[in-house]
Amino acid sequence: MLKVLNHPLAEHLVTHLRDKTTKPATFRTLTYHISLLLALEATRDLATQSVRVETPLESCPGRVLSAPIVVVPILRAGLGMVQPFTDLFPSVSIGYIGLERDHKTAIAHSYYCKLPPLSSEPVIVVDPMLATGGSAVKTITVLRENGARDIRFVCIVSAPEGIRAVEGIDPALPVFTAALDRELNERKYILPGLGDFGDRLYGT
Ligand code: PRP
Ligand code: URA
Repeated sequence: MLKVLNHPLAEHLVTHLRDKTTKPATFRTLTYHISLLLALEATRDLATQSVRVETPLESCPGRVLSAPIVVVPILRAGLGMVQPFTDLFPSVSIGYIGLERDHKTAIAHSYYCKLPPLSSEPVIVVDPMLATGGSAVKTITVLRENGARDIRFVCIVSAPEGIRAVEGIDPALPVFTAALDRELNERKYILPGLGDFGDRLYGT
């Protein structure tokens, strides 16, 4: 289930991320801000519970978050999207999945996996680029094998091919993206895209 961010600030931030003259330091700041907007959208339906709070003037009802969340960045580029989540939800648990696409085949191979215990809490996968969807599908499969039942996928730029791949394993799984781009090129890079996100984030 695709949800495209609809906000002028999101368009502004993605445009600067796309710009090939944007340097890594600015790229990281833009990534932080767009991920913050995505984090708000992906957590819009989090469970809350009622409490009473004493203001300086009187007692009134309020609501507080009632369930912890888990964030799972796909290494390495997904790491750039984690801090907004830890800033907003300090009690978050973080799992790590290491995947890297082969430069020739674009097939992702797994090199690392460290997850907290998973069950019914929201598990938010963060990875800036959803291209073929191979990395997303591998990650979702591993999370399910480890007990996750409420998985949401958050990316900055997506391609129709990647959206179809995720829908192919679960049409109801929410995919939050800041931009839905046109297509993949012959090397499975997103067009117009923004190039290799990890390289631009880390200056490699
Ligand atoms: C990029 C990106 C995704 C993946 C998307 O990672 O961060 O994980 O490609 O492509 P897919 O949808 O076709 O699987 P990459 O493999 O380049 O590794 P990196 O994060 O270490 O740069
Ligand atoms: N990974 C990236 O970093 N960029 C793309 O366009 C596709 C996959």
